[in-house]
Amino acid sequence: MSEVAKIVLGDKTIELPVITGTENEKAIDISKLRDLTGYITMDRGYKNTGACESAITFLDGELGVLHYRGYSIESLAEHAGFLEVCFLLVFGELPTKAQLQKFEDDIRLYTLVNEEMKDIIDGFPASAHPMGVLSALTSALTAFNPKPVDVKSENDMYHAVCKTIGKFVVLCSWVYRTKVGFPLNYYDNSKGYVENFLRLMFAIPTQEYKINPVVVDALDKLLILHADHEQNCSTSTVRIVGSSHAGLFASISAGVSALWGPLHGGANQEVIEMLEAIRADGGDVDKYVLKAKDKDDPFRLMGFGHRVYKNFDPRAKIIKKAADEVLAALGVNDPILEIAKKLEKVALEDEYFKSRNLYPNVDFYSGIIYRALGIPTEMFTVMFALGRLPGWIAQWKEMRQGNEPIGRPRQIYVGKTDRAYIPLDKRK
Ligand code: ACO
Repeated sequence: MSEVAKIVLGDKTIELPVITGTENEKAIDISKLRDLTGYITMDRGYKNTGACESAITFLDGELGVLHYRGYSIESLAEHAGFLEVCFLLVFGELPTKAQLQKFEDDIRLYTLVNEEMKDIIDGFPASAHPMGVLSALTSALTAFNPKPVDVKSENDMYHAVCKTIGKFVVLCSWVYRTKVGFPLNYYDNSKGYVENFLRLMFAIPTQEYKINPVVVDALDKLLILHADHEQNCSTSTVRIVGSSHAGLFASISAGVSALWGPLHGGANQEVIEMLEAIRADGGDVDKYVLKAKDKDDPFRLMGFGHRVYKNFDPRAKIIKKAADEVLAALGVNDPILEIAKKLEKVALEDEYFKSRNLYPNVDFYSGIIYRALGIPTEMFTVMFALGRLPGWIAQWKEMRQGNEPIGRPRQIYVGKTDRAYIPLDKRK
């Protein structure tokens, strides 16, 4: 007999079906609840709410498990390349050699960005944050590609995916180049994707740019680790914006804005700024741990805690090892690394953090690697966006092709009840 949940409301008992996922996750299907009872559910921050069924990413926050399409993040980070993982997330299977080659070639078809985009970039003041500019530029792509994607056509969808991946990487670099006042670079279709990103970012006309394979490998791994994370804040944003049938670029632009926030992707920038501040203040880690525990102080230890992982973040484990390797290979001796290590030790042994299951998350270490790779702090969240792009695309595609209804939560109204209008001259 299939499992049901019973809800008793006064003298009425109703039965609601239980949905079970392939990893045995359970949900009570309340889609008929309001019709049957007149009640809705309340779940601030959606801590207990499933918004969709998805076949893309599985994570178990208690066990610290993360799978993309059934493959563990550990195996993908060790063996796969970023574009291979993009293909897996978006199309559901690991590509064959021929499919991967074609995918890379087809992405190259779209790496030229309309020159008029430069006028849009020039319109931003120097004070603009790279994430704000990236969000605007991604949305602006719609103006140059006004024809909506026919989601029913696999060919149309495939080319929309290649186009988004091809243009987004160039835009990420242009945001940075404008900020530092360097000429904008173009994708070199004879080179790989990650190598191209580094060239787009750092190659300057006055000298040869030498690619360091250690840097390429580390970046490739970082992008894979960020590639998807099921229904997080930015991905849910992409799905909900797309559910109104807004286009792919507009939906991804919204995802970039959601990712920008310091409680989400913006945390990687905040981690480094926090570590710098602790260092500038004499390196007293205990003082900052006390501040984080003080309920009257808004300060939080950035890079600690996660909405879903309540044991450890498996990405943080991989990244921590990668950080050690990259720093050693590049011969980087970063003083804030010592502060990071001290902070991690103190927090992990502290009862406040232990009892609340607050562990270092992926952002705690990613900033340290980005810094070692020469990526400026303000660009860290852009790096996260570059990695998360395939996840956003995969989730958008799944949502649109699955014919999901428009996302529209309800509320419980707690404002004033019906009142008579008071004419302006009678108001006190
Ligand atoms: N420092 C100090 N205390 C914390 C921290 C922290 N970083 N994170 C959570 N807590 C405390 C809260 O004050 C709360 O304490 P209480 O029970 O005594 O009131 C308890 O732990 C639970 O915290 P919530 O905010 O309810 O947890 P939630 O799941 O809503 O938030 C979040 C998760 C937003 C990630 C939070 O841990 C946080 O703000 N961390 C710092 C920012 C950060 O690193 N974000 C990156 C997330 S990972 C990512 O986006 C890739």
